[in-house]
Amino acid sequence: MAQSFPVPRTCPFAPPPEYEAMREQAPLVRASLPGGEVWLVTRLAEAKQVLMGAGISTSPATPGHPNTALSAEPLSPEHAEAAKRVSPGAFIDLDPPEHTRFRRLLIPEFTVRRMKELRPGIQQVAGRLIDDMLADGRREAELVEAFGLALPSLVICRLLGVPYADHEFFQSRTRRMVTAGTDRQAGFAAVMEIRSFLGDLVTEAAKQPKDDLLGRLITGGRLTHDELVGVVFLLLVAGHETTANMIPLAALTLMRHPGQLAALRENPEGWPAAVDELLRYHSVVDWVGFDRVATEDQEIGGQLVRKGEGIFVLGASANRDERAFERPDEFDTGRGARHHVAFGYGVHQCLGQNLARAELEIALRTLFERIPALQVTVADEDLPAKYDGVIFGLTALPVAW
Ligand code: HEM
Repeated sequence: MAQSFPVPRTCPFAPPPEYEAMREQAPLVRASLPGGEVWLVTRLAEAKQVLMGAGISTSPATPGHPNTALSAEPLSPEHAEAAKRVSPGAFIDLDPPEHTRFRRLLIPEFTVRRMKELRPGIQQVAGRLIDDMLADGRREAELVEAFGLALPSLVICRLLGVPYADHEFFQSRTRRMVTAGTDRQAGFAAVMEIRSFLGDLVTEAAKQPKDDLLGRLITGGRLTHDELVGVVFLLLVAGHETTANMIPLAALTLMRHPGQLAALRENPEGWPAAVDELLRYHSVVDWVGFDRVATEDQEIGGQLVRKGEGIFVLGASANRDERAFERPDEFDTGRGARHHVAFGYGVHQCLGQNLARAELEIALRTLFERIPALQVTVADEDLPAKYDGVIFGLTALPVAW
């Protein structure tokens, strides 16, 4: 019988408990959703095979794509029309060769060298946010709001050249978009406000293109206005909520493993490996981020998958696959977890992964250096988890020092 899906995730330290049994059962498991049936990919090797993309499409326009079957509730005509306008340039939803056209333009903006240049700016943002937390003398804060959501939003402001005077507006709308949860209308209103803001930003930047990301995309001259807005919007959406949710979860896990945190304080060169283990352990992007459809009949993990059948890769299950990671449920900064799929794999592998790694490392290192006595003030079971099916995270993380 097909597994009923989705299954809820509530524990900050573990994927849904059903995943382990599904992974044991088979690398591909049939599941039934409100709108139809799909294949769930449970193990790392098969996850990478699907994400490599041969004979697989990620485009919602491909017949059988599971996103179209997922929601029992259709979009309102106004919402559907607006969604279409947001789409040009959202290359995460395109297959090669269209996808390649955008990806090629963006790759030079996210190289290790470019990220090195961004590090002092990220450091400054992290430092200022911690100054604010320390300034009122209360010795307590709510880390999701004060740090997790704020840091990536301000980093993206810098990346996109959002004028300083507009930071407050940008931050409040991105926060609203991310925290709207299942309130579709509120989320949609915030999306439209941001899109209009980004449209003006692109128009303004086009008048006198600078030597920054937006300026270079404009002078590259190969994208229309709508495509540029779509690209910039994708960078915001893909880069904000993911990083924003990872920062508090990672801080929580490090506070719950004081021995490993102390070792990182002693040996800061261990941070990059620790960041990858945190990404693997939390796997904030799961099946919704990995929606695919077969474009030809093929065998995956010994299972025949037919053309037009929908597939979700369970990233959070693949990253706990005992075939690829010893003691997968243990958090171990020394394990060497870089072969995880927290950033995906293949053609759509996260374009911003170097930026995300830099943000996480700088945010966490600075937080624990500046506030060494940081502690969580509630029990794990009282921490409110957010799982609206998109990206896992906490809605609040009360801390004191
Ligand atoms: C911890 C933070 C992050 C995580 C866990 C994450 C995760 C992912 C994953 C899993 C994918 C692949 C989705 C798929 O296969 O369909 C992806 C794609 C992408 N990510 Fe990230 N991401 C993070 C941060 C960022 C940042 C900071 C940026 C840029 C500002 C970014 C930009 C993108 C873009 C543009 C894509 C689409 C790539 C393509 O389709 O070629 N991400 N991300």
